[in-house]
Amino acid sequence: MDTKLLQGKKIVVGVTGGIAAYKAVEVVSRLRKAGAEVHVMMTREATEFVTELTFREISGHPVAQDMWAKVQEYKVEHIALATLADLMLIVPATANVLAKTATGIADDLLTSTILATKAPLFFAPAMNTGMYENPATKANISVLKDRGIHIIEPASGYLACGVEGKGRLPEPAEIVQEVLDYFSETQSLQGKKILVTAGGTEEALDPVRFLGNRSTGRMGYAIAEAAVRRGAEVVLVSGPTSIPVPAGVRAIKVRSAREMEQAVLSEYDSVDAVIKSAAVADYRPKEISSQKIKKSDGELTLTLVRNPDILYELGQRKKNQVLVGFAAETNDLETYARKKLEKKNLDFIVANDVSAKDAGFGTDTNRVQIFYRDGREESQPLMSKAKLAGLILDRLRGYWDEMSEGIELFPK
Ligand code: CTP
Repeated sequence: MDTKLLQGKKIVVGVTGGIAAYKAVEVVSRLRKAGAEVHVMMTREATEFVTELTFREISGHPVAQDMWAKVQEYKVEHIALATLADLMLIVPATANVLAKTATGIADDLLTSTILATKAPLFFAPAMNTGMYENPATKANISVLKDRGIHIIEPASGYLACGVEGKGRLPEPAEIVQEVLDYFSETQSLQGKKILVTAGGTEEALDPVRFLGNRSTGRMGYAIAEAAVRRGAEVVLVSGPTSIPVPAGVRAIKVRSAREMEQAVLSEYDSVDAVIKSAAVADYRPKEISSQKIKKSDGELTLTLVRNPDILYELGQRKKNQVLVGFAAETNDLETYARKKLEKKNLDFIVANDVSAKDAGFGTDTNRVQIFYRDGREESQPLMSKAKLAGLILDRLRGYWDEMSEGIELFPK
């Protein structure tokens, strides 16, 4: 186990009343060995299975349990531990605590802390198979997942109640590994500078009109946000959109393709990767009328001229940067995406069918195929743009790891 990985991390472990509570003792012990400062909270029911004393000795801190008890170390307990935590881990998590969390019930110290904390939450459910498979529990788990809460999948096996099935708490080492993975992911892009472009461009016709497209910027903003969470320095060059700039991101707002080109080129030399999710207008009106164009009875003909292909230019000037493109297609997705990959000198390209209702412009979800330089491809199922953002950044991290190890890129 990497002993340094949890150094300086404060982890609050919530123990609820299930037979697997004894395994939480080993989880706490392993977290401490990995360098974490661990504070344990127990529900009253949990104390029926394991004593407070055990957890106090193993964690090296007093155990927070009764809402009204006077434990000197914490002032207003639920606030104290809720704000102190870098991560909260509920192990084992009973069906009851999952249900309470899903509905926002805070009737004891642990559930109050869960409700108050802004720290990432991990639940390791353990219960009888029937309870686990009950639609109510399933629905509660799904609500928690939708809120970004991490669920550590229970294992299958022989349960204390005498039946075989799903609901067993995974081994303590596996639970701790999930925590380690989480922290290593959050540091996975440390030291990297990433340029993300987002949104559509607007090409002015006159002082009140423009030619635009249906891009909302959601994909690019999700990527920028996820990259900051993973420790990267992020510059976001964005076309007009109503989405707020994520905390920690430096944003450069632009309107037209040529403004985007300037902003991107001014940052290009200093970045390690460019993720070009913006929908850039390929053409702009030849002339911008300084006054509002007045209607007349006849037809109006606009002459359009080509805009620069920004990503093509980046491909031409590429040094060490990894270039990730997007391809918005309505037909022959693979053929067009591969052509763009080649022509623009990209490392990989994320292609999606923008004619699908649940993918592409203006949706919260996307379904993509990724094509790599070495000829490989992968098809991803429909997923949220936030999840896809994480996946693209994982691929980028993988690319760097494999380059530094000098092994085959993107092995199967
Ligand atoms: N792109 C760009 N500059 C342009 C057009 C596109 O940088 N003038 C980038 C996009 O940000 C995207 C990739 O190139 O990452 C592909 O964009 P897309 O609109 O799918 O393709 P085009 O190159 O414009 O080709 P076509 O319109 O013929 O499909």
